[in-house]
Formats: sequence, structure tokens, C-alpha cells
Amino acid sequence: MAQHSETIVVTGAAGFIGSHVAAAFLARGARVIGVDNFDPYYERSIKEANLARVREGVAKTRLGEPCHQEPFTCVEMDICDESGMDGLFIRERPAGVVHLAAKAGVRPSVADPVGYVRVNLLGTASVLRAAERVGCARFVMASSSSVYGNNTKTPFAEDDPVERPISPYASTKRSCELIAHTHHHLTGMPTACLRFFTVYGPGQRPDLAIATFMRLMRDGQPITMFGDGSMSRDYTYIDDIVRGVLAAYDRIDQFGYRVWNLGSDKPVRLDALIAQIGEVTGIEPRVERGEAPAGDVEITWADVSRSRAELGYAPKMARHEGLRLQWKALSGG
Ligand SMILES: NC(=O)c1ccc[n+]([C@@H]2O[C@H](COP(=O)([O-])OP(=O)(O)OC[C@H]3O[C@@H](n4cnc5c(N)ncnc54)[C@H](O)[C@@H]3O)[C@@H](O)[C@H]2O)c1
Repeated sequence: MAQHSETIVVTGAAGFIGSHVAAAFLARGARVIGVDNFDPYYERSIKEANLARVREGVAKTRLGEPCHQEPFTCVEMDICDESGMDGLFIRERPAGVVHLAAKAGVRPSVADPVGYVRVNLLGTASVLRAAERVGCARFVMASSSSVYGNNTKTPFAEDDPVERPISPYASTKRSCELIAHTHHHLTGMPTACLRFFTVYGPGQRPDLAIATFMRLMRDGQPITMFGDGSMSRDYTYIDDIVRGVLAAYDRIDQFGYRVWNLGSDKPVRLDALIAQIGEVTGIEPRVERGEAPAGDVEITWADVSRSRAELGYAPKMARHEGLRLQWKALSGG
């Protein structure tokens, strides 16, 4: 079992999921070293605000505790900088790693496959090597539902075929799972690959559909519905994902190498999602139609039986309430 007070490196800590994961580890007493290069994919100010929220949380939960070491720091560093990563790990001697840093968007990966391969593959290999140098006892990394490609058997289970990803992003995520497997085979480092299904909630990455729709609707702008509205996504609330990440971190030593789906097992069609956002915001969506982008899959749908049985994972958030919380954070309402 992981010690709650141990030091953990969280890569991508300034991002959407990383900042929530860092906050959760800090809340249970860990020391967290974040690593992030503030990739310009979206504005730095949003990532600075994420970090400020994490620091505020620490200030509240650790008020009055004696502080020998800063509980949270975020180092600005590119995960592809091998010597920088080695130096950081040797200095900090973390017990474990949650590796979330990546080039994360599906659509931009179609135009920049080289950039995605560089960061996602070289970066992951560099973080794994640094972890191995200091003998980290746990390694948890973000994979993605996109590895299932356009599989027609639903819901998607971890042992389904994943040889046909349809975007450069998805192939880098599947490749990272393979690199991590090889690394585990050679070093024995307990390693979990978590296939996240589209994550939403307060602070959602601004390029993703719900955040984009809510922002445009708030500003009185039309929104674009790609395709005929039948594309479906298994949206998963951030707090459910964070609980899954912590459970995987705590239990991976019992499994060696393991892949787990973290989804909600409740896919929704795009047209139904837009209608629901309309209900939650009280704003009638003005919908324009656009062509479905290359690289987007038809459906994602998580079979969560394995994560339920092995991690005690139980997604709780009802979509209507999750959307309401995301809208409240965005609109200040
Ligand atoms: N959000 C989702 O729905 C979703 C779904 C499936 C998988 N994932 C995966 O989860 C992880 C986190 O996603 P997110 O939505 O929080 O994205 P995000 O973009 O908000 O966070 C990723 C962070 O990684 C940092 N980063 C990028 N390249 C880096 C580099 N070379 N060195 C150091 N830091 C770097 C970015 O600056 C960013 O802060 C990613 O690995 C992503 O692929 C996310």
C-alpha cells in the first residue's frame, strides 16, 4: 500500500486532469512535485490558474501544520529533457509517478504527427527512465479511450483489439502502453495504463466539446455540431477519474502491469448532449452543422467491469449534475 505522506511526481500537473490529481494527492498528505512545460496548445494563464487552485487547496488543508518541505512545487520542464528529468528525480527521490503530460488533442494530431510522437513517445520513455534510475515503486500513466479506434463491439473492454487506432494521437497513446509494458518487463516496475474516456467538469480542457459549447453559448455565439449528431462519447466526470487514478496508484503493486478503463459506462449522442447543455445553461443552443473531423471515432463506451472489480472504481456523477457544476464554474453562477 502506498504511504500517504510519500513524494509523488505528477507530470502535466498544470493541466486539467493533472491539477486535480495533484490536489487529491496533496489532500491526503503526499508531497507533490509537478512537472509541466506549459505547452502553448492552450493559454498559459489557464494553467497558472489551475496551479493557483492547487496551492490554495494546500494552504487550506495544511494550515498550521509544521512545514519542513514545500508540499507542492511545479517545475517548468519539458519531459523530453532527459538529463533534466534525471536530475529532478535524483534530487527528489519520488516513491512514485503519475504521468499525465502529453500532447492531448485528437484533431491537432492529424496535422502534427511528428510533434505528437516526439512528446508522447520520447517524453514517456524519458519519464520511465528517470523513474527507473531512482527505483520508483509505482508508475501510473494516462492512456486514452481513443486506442479502441472505430471498434464496433461495445462497450470497449481492456482485452479488445487495439491495433487500429485512427488518429496520430491514438497511436501514440497505444505506443506508450507498449513502451510501458516493455519497461515493466525489463525492470519489474509496477505500471498502470489508464484509458480515460472523455473527461469533463470544472476546468475542462478548453478545446473539448462541452467547454467549447458552454463558452460559445455564454457569449451568444452559435456552436458547430460535427456530423449528424450521432457520434457518442462516454463522458466521465473529473472527480470519478481522480478517484480511479488514486486507486490505481495504491493498488498497482498487486498487478505488475495492468490496463484499466476509467469511463462512466453511459455514452451520450452529441445531439442529446447539446440539448442537455441547453437545459443546464438555460440557453437555447444555436446549432450549425460541420463535417465530422478526420481522426474522430464514432463512439466511445467504457466497460468498467475490470476497474470496478480490481480498483473498486465506481463512477458516481450523473451527467446533468456534472454539467451543472462545469457551467457554474464557467459562468460564476
Ligand atoms: N481530457 C481528456 O478527456 C483525456 C482523455 C483521454 C486521455 N487523456 C490524457 O490525460 C492526460 C491529461 O490530459 P488533460 O486533458 O489534462 O490535458 P492538458 O493539456 O490539460 O494537460 C496536459 C499537460 O501536459 C503538459 N505538457 C504537454 N507537453 C509537455 C512536455 N513536453 N513536457 C512537460 N509537460 C507537457 C501541458 O502543458 C499540460 O499542462 C494526457 O496524457 C491526455 O492524453 C485526457
